Amino acid sequence: MQKFYVTTPIYYVNARPHLGSLYSTLLADVASRYNKLHNKNVFFLTGTDEHGQKIAQSAAAVGKKPQDFVDSFIPAFKDAWKLYNIDYTKFIRTTDSDHIQAVQAWIKRLIDKGDIYKSHYAGYYCVSCEAFVTDKDMPHGITENIPLCPTCGRTTEYVSEESYFFKLSSYQERLLQFYKDNPDFITPRERMAEVISFVQSGLKDLSISRTTIDWGIPFPGDKNHVTYVWADALNNYITGVGYGVPGKEKEFNVWWPADLQILGKDIVRFHAVFWPAFLMASGLPMPKKLLVHGWIKIGEHKMSKSRGNAVDPVELATTYGVDQVRYYLVRHLAITQDSPFTYADLEQRINSDLSHDLGNLLNRTITLALKYNVAMVECPKTWSAESVALYEAGKNITVRFMQEMEAGYMNRAYAVVWEYIHEVNKYFHNQQPWKIAQSESEKFAEVISATCHALYTIAHLSWPLMPQKMEQLLFALGKKINIEQDVFAHLLSVPWKETFSLTQGEILFNKIDIKLETQETVMTQQEVKQSPTIIIDDFTKIELRVGMIEDVQVLEKSDKLYILKVNFGDHGVRQILSGIRKHFTPEQILHRQGVFVYNLAPRKMMGLESQGMMLFAKDAQEQLVLIQPEHTIPNGTQLS
Ligand code: MSP
Repeated sequence: MQKFYVTTPIYYVNARPHLGSLYSTLLADVASRYNKLHNKNVFFLTGTDEHGQKIAQSAAAVGKKPQDFVDSFIPAFKDAWKLYNIDYTKFIRTTDSDHIQAVQAWIKRLIDKGDIYKSHYAGYYCVSCEAFVTDKDMPHGITENIPLCPTCGRTTEYVSEESYFFKLSSYQERLLQFYKDNPDFITPRERMAEVISFVQSGLKDLSISRTTIDWGIPFPGDKNHVTYVWADALNNYITGVGYGVPGKEKEFNVWWPADLQILGKDIVRFHAVFWPAFLMASGLPMPKKLLVHGWIKIGEHKMSKSRGNAVDPVELATTYGVDQVRYYLVRHLAITQDSPFTYADLEQRINSDLSHDLGNLLNRTITLALKYNVAMVECPKTWSAESVALYEAGKNITVRFMQEMEAGYMNRAYAVVWEYIHEVNKYFHNQQPWKIAQSESEKFAEVISATCHALYTIAHLSWPLMPQKMEQLLFALGKKINIEQDVFAHLLSVPWKETFSLTQGEILFNKIDIKLETQETVMTQQEVKQSPTIIIDDFTKIELRVGMIEDVQVLEKSDKLYILKVNFGDHGVRQILSGIRKHFTPEQILHRQGVFVYNLAPRKMMGLESQGMMLFAKDAQEQLVLIQPEHTIPNGTQLS
């Protein structure tokens, strides 16, 4: 059996988990479940990062001992993960004695090897990020001569103390060679460029112990020092599967190297530079892939506990449902960029994607079949051309879904599944089974069977994302998830041959009654009115051209507008402002072609010139839909 080892960052325990922490964890859960569907043996490690100055300060602020303080938050993490069906294998705490001993043994080994030496550190430190601010980071802003942290923007503090150093500088060339040999080490690839340029600009040795705090792993052989929290925390990825734990050598060799390590963009340097260097020094293989995601933002700011804009995942699940939130976070937040979180968007997605597109499809199919006494759906003797096309589309979708998942783009993988859901809806609608239920009962049964087969594929592909709901869907079809086989190999190789036994269960996704305050994003329904006719000359006055969106920036001063850079080929690149932020994440429109009014007089919006207008249509749910050519055509092509 093949193995798959996935990790999340371990979370600081100075507060309850928020939506950002849930996001990293959910991505790991989806990856883990996806690999279970491949019949792999999966180890999923998550946990908490409990040492360091930040935790010590937070504990002191509420008059608690650090250990009691961190202990008090553990149930909140474990309960939240349980609520969200996060099926981890192990929850590691850096205060676990196994971990502490393994880290101490690791340090001793590196001291013996000559990779760690004692010296003096003088420089700036960001307590919030637990990071030493290097000279290279200085230009990021200075207040009263104190540099601001380049990652979180907070004021740093000056530290001057004796310290043990890890010889990071001696790994510079090996790291660069490693990145060159493994261009897919980091997803998305763009992040790799930042890492390479950081390493190329010169690595200094890394301070890995502190004398001015005492909440940390005691540094072996020197009681004045505790281990720097990142040298402690990063090692959880190996100690969690048995590294340095007596009797667990075999287990460790089974699981390491990790197949996928998930992390947010704020901690790339630690994972893509320090961590590989630690592993090189330890003579251990590199993880296969780092998946780096963007931040969830509220307005223009990163969601965080300290900013006070954190959304509580438990409350969200209570209001909207666990799988609904899982769906929204994984499908609609972009891996590659920061994404805004709004309740309005969440509600609209639940109503349109889940309730309307998927839930209704299941409900309509089962209601209709049962109405005409087709509770046991057998395969027909022959399939119609339309059903064969639906079958082929399902296979094609499965392949594309797998490609996106393997690359780490889970949001795109589920956009692909929704393409199929739309196709199945179209098929059902076009076949009009309600009209032929009595007159052509065989044909009717064939349409029901094809739709059930398509739903069966959809349920399997969506199980990693919404395990409960997809098990409910399968139950309604008389099926169960079966991970005793490679589900994907099965979906791809076996022709449709299932028998379905239908039951009318509970509604899969209830529609949300969109509250007034969240309706600001729903455009008002246009009255249906007869427009006056125009002559062709009127029409030709409007120059419509196809353009490719090459860049999407948020216009800071507005909560609606994106600044698009649109490539019109020989007609140049234009800046176009579009008020669609509540309908699309940047990733959903980036690198897509669309249709634009090219000769609209330029106008200023919020001080910026907009040189055209992008066209959209609204679907039945009032969602904006992108208008694009059926296949890619040269940019600048005029519509006629
Ligand atoms: N303890 C370190 C990680 C050590 S791993 C060896 C840490 N902890 S954290 O609690 O601050 O953040 C953990 C993860 O949560 C990071 O991947 C971070 O990017 C993610 N998120 C925290 N806030 C976030 C958002 N607002 N949005 C998305 N993820 C963010 O860093």
